[in-house]
Amino acid sequence: MKPTVLAARDAFAGALTDGLRASPKRIAAKYFYDATGSELFEEITELPEYYPTRTELSILRNNIGEIAAHIGDNAQLVEFGAGSLRKVRLLLDAMDRPRGYVPVDISGEYLLEVATRLEADYPHICVNPVVADFTKPIALGPLECTAMHRIGFFPGSTIGNFTRLEAVSFLRSARRTLEGAPLLIGVDLVKDPDILHAAYNDSEGVTAAFNLNLLLRANREADADFDPAAFAHHASYNPVAQRMEMYLISRKAQRVQIGDDVIAFAEGEAIHTEDSHKYTLDSFRAVAAEAGYRQIKVWTDPARLFSVQWLQV
Ligand code: AVI
Repeated sequence: MKPTVLAARDAFAGALTDGLRASPKRIAAKYFYDATGSELFEEITELPEYYPTRTELSILRNNIGEIAAHIGDNAQLVEFGAGSLRKVRLLLDAMDRPRGYVPVDISGEYLLEVATRLEADYPHICVNPVVADFTKPIALGPLECTAMHRIGFFPGSTIGNFTRLEAVSFLRSARRTLEGAPLLIGVDLVKDPDILHAAYNDSEGVTAAFNLNLLLRANREADADFDPAAFAHHASYNPVAQRMEMYLISRKAQRVQIGDDVIAFAEGEAIHTEDSHKYTLDSFRAVAAEAGYRQIKVWTDPARLFSVQWLQV
């Protein structure tokens, strides 16, 4: 294994105080994923109400022959985000002579863990993790280990956590990173708001814990004194913007110390923590087109909850 480090970890503490001094208050969704947040997200993916992971896996499984044929032989897979190994394993198991796997993520520790586990199970594949911000173009260097071409892989509808502008900008930079190679991408679809509401307000409270972990992370890493019990998890569907919106809402007027700063919260004041955009096949086709990609093939589940799409330049 040959890890490449192109970026340092994002500075959480500085971004936290900047976001909480802004109006409205916000904390960027990328900060959910410390070790605890990543574990909580894994738990979310197993929840009965959280349909995206299960559905995406079923789409991949049910169409794996056709997907592998699109990928072709002797390919190197470049995964944006150190994702669930379950998904990439499905592809690697079905591909004709897979040659390489390049997971790209800003979180170096998790990335190396993922890469090491995969390498142990696929000793014939070159695994080269890259620690980098995958929203920016990355120089991957020449193909290695007799790989003949690259294919990008961006599952999980993580693209939904970007604004429309950010989604276009990510796709443009992925196109540059992949030097025009195709991209296999998971995109969550617009659906009955009740299904969405349940998925982000699960009965076991795991999504609430995932959201509130941001405050515990602030206490651990940014010398803050948040009382998580003084904030409520809130997730609702915005039908005009076609996205789930997540907030932490202050249950009372309170002051919170963060390092040398004090941040005041009014009763009912919200911290915006995440948007999760849902697309129609047409609206995502337009996003892809703005980035120079054509939507060549779309696989969905029978209930059309989720889609896996093959994009080509
Ligand atoms: C990672 N991302 C696609 C998840 C989503 O559904 O937007 C994150 C998440 N937030 C709450 N539950 C899951």
